[in-house]
Amino acid sequence: MILVTGGAGFIGSNFVLDWLACSDEPVLNLDALTYAGNLRNLASLDGNPKHLFVHGDIGDRTVVAELLARHRPRAVLNFAAESHVDRSISGPEAFLRTNVMGTLNLLESVRQHWSALPEAERAAFRFLQVSTDEVYGSLAPDAPAFTELHRYEPNSPYAASKASADHLVRAWHHTYRLPVLTTNCSNNYGPFHFPEKLIPLMIVNALAGKPLPVYGDGMQVRDWLYVGDHCRAIRTVLERGVPGEHYNVGGWNEQANIDIVRQVCALLDEMQPDPAGPRSRLITHVTDRPGHDRRYAIDARRIERELGWRPQETFASGLRRTVRWYLDHADWVRDVQSGAYREWVAQQYGARA
Ligand code: NAD
Ligand code: TYD
Repeated sequence: MILVTGGAGFIGSNFVLDWLACSDEPVLNLDALTYAGNLRNLASLDGNPKHLFVHGDIGDRTVVAELLARHRPRAVLNFAAESHVDRSISGPEAFLRTNVMGTLNLLESVRQHWSALPEAERAAFRFLQVSTDEVYGSLAPDAPAFTELHRYEPNSPYAASKASADHLVRAWHHTYRLPVLTTNCSNNYGPFHFPEKLIPLMIVNALAGKPLPVYGDGMQVRDWLYVGDHCRAIRTVLERGVPGEHYNVGGWNEQANIDIVRQVCALLDEMQPDPAGPRSRLITHVTDRPGHDRRYAIDARRIERELGWRPQETFASGLRRTVRWYLDHADWVRDVQSGAYREWVAQQYGARA
């Protein structure tokens, strides 16, 4: 079996669902169920003996060691993280605790387990770290996209914590020869995306007739990838990636935030027209994020050339699917918009001009 951490979050739950849809190999899913973890994402697996969920923290040495000893997974895929840049700005500690110390604990537990395995199992074992393009920092408008050789220049507490984790992963390979793989992916979107991030926040706010808060001038650029394409990239790297290497994953799809918001508005207007008028009337420019990175863009040629992965979803089809998913899952949205979510929205946007 494989051990997935953070498998109740946005990308992790998509990964677990996709994995079990195309493989018979069981998944052991370790997740602390923070505000971002949601077992409802995995409801379709209820009663499926191939999915074993464990409620626990990647920073808990006893839990991780016990799971490794009892289930002897052939691979550990680390999705677990605090993942929201704005939350890292208002409270960085949790990011250091999970993203850095949690990863350190996983690496140490895995190393002890791995070093005692028989040789064939040791050679086949993989530790895959799910990382981000944000570790590379911000690009000038006309600079070439990030390759795997780009210097790490993290700018937000979130990016710094992910960069630290990547450095630990690298060191565990270099020093202990642990067979690690690292993927650095651009911004994902799709089903089960927590509505604190740009695309789902805009969808749920627009449906509720609330303002659509665009930071600053809205001309910051991100490279958007459909989550299913990211999950397939991770499966590909796990299967064929070379230990010790990084693989950049992206959608060749750079877009300014304001254009993303306009497209969300247009799709909602088409699929569920608002008698009050076009949703674009709700767009509101608010105070910018401190230290806001201006542009991210991924050069994904390496994974394409060496491992044969390519994105399959276009942005037009992926965004349409995503908007449709939110329209069809109003109950999921209601469920995640709990008291804690409302408190975050009030704290984050209440005071923004
Ligand atoms: P998410 O915030 O939606 O989910 C994170 C999951 O990790 C949640 O289920 C949460 O309960 C769990 N978790 C948090 N702390 C934990 C701990 N200490 N122990 C165990 N579980 C814990 O995040 P996501 O968007 O699904 O991102 C998953 C991974 O992908 C992260 O490592 C993130 O850095 C990376 N990534 C995300 C994106 C993106 O666009 N969302 C892009 C590139 C890389
Ligand atoms: P986000 O989804 O938080 O991802 P990241 O910061 O990891 O790229 O934000 C995507 C972009 O959208 C980013 O440039 C910040 C911007 N943004 C807004 O303009 N308004 C918002 O309310 C949010 C959450 C993000």
